[in-house]
Amino acid sequence: MLTVTVMVSVKNAQWAKMLTDKTYMPTVFKHGKNFKIGNFSIIESGVRVGDNVTIGHHCLLKSGTRFADNVNFADYCKTTGICYVGNNVNVRTGSCISKSVIVEDKAFIGAAVMTSHTKHIHHQRPQMPRVQLLTRIGYGAVVGSHTNLSAGVHIGDNVVIGYGSVVIKDVLEPAIYAGNPLRKLKELSDEMRVTKPDGYEEHIFSDEMLAKYLPYYVKG
Ligand SMILES: CC(C)(COP(=O)(O)OP(=O)(O)OC[C@H]1O[C@@H](n2cnc3c(N)ncnc32)[C@H](O)[C@@H]1OP(=O)(O)O)[C@@H](O)C(=O)NCCC(=O)NCCS
Repeated sequence: MLTVTVMVSVKNAQWAKMLTDKTYMPTVFKHGKNFKIGNFSIIESGVRVGDNVTIGHHCLLKSGTRFADNVNFADYCKTTGICYVGNNVNVRTGSCISKSVIVEDKAFIGAAVMTSHTKHIHHQRPQMPRVQLLTRIGYGAVVGSHTNLSAGVHIGDNVVIGYGSVVIKDVLEPAIYAGNPLRKLKELSDEMRVTKPDGYEEHIFSDEMLAKYLPYYVKG
């Protein structure tokens, strides 16, 4: 891991600054202190990350990505555009945080989780309306490995989704769920709950960001 300790806003001539042999960052990249990044990762311009962010090997962060503080983004993970990953979020190996996804603080995303921003495929079908939906993963929620989240779903605070699940509808009540179709397995014990501070405000994308990165956004 390479460690970069200062806030940088470098204005070199070229698009990319080569930090290791094969790790690329834009010439203007804002990150907080104690930023670490592995090899063979790419960060596009228009990405912002906070303090104590660790990005693994072979990662891709597309323009519009926002990481808060204390984010761990493991090897082979990617974002595909505008997204927000909150404070103290852990994203495990090979997961895809798609454009339109908001991950609230203290959530856990297991390995190879797939998210997306469209439900109906517009490809080669100009007659179809273009619709981009916002997906939200709540405070302290857990999404088990190899879970697929349909575009636009809302996973509630402290909801636990077991590995290999397919989520096509909102799941709001804090409890343990799994499967395809998803079913409630168990109530959530106290020890599995993450306490959400009073006054916590869910993240929203600004109108400016939506217009730039999600021009076909439709409120769900
Ligand atoms: C959902 C989960 C937390 C439940 O664990 P648990 O409370 O110990 O549950 P149990 O193993 O006692 O199983 C309870 C029931 O749920 C079923 N079940 C558990 N996990 C399941 C899953 N992922 N998919 C489908 N059914 C599941 C069990 O078969 C069992 O069914 P039964 O009562 O009909 O026999 C756990 O199985 C899980 O999926 N954890 C996610 C792990 C993960 O993704 N880690 C990421 C590391 S990067």
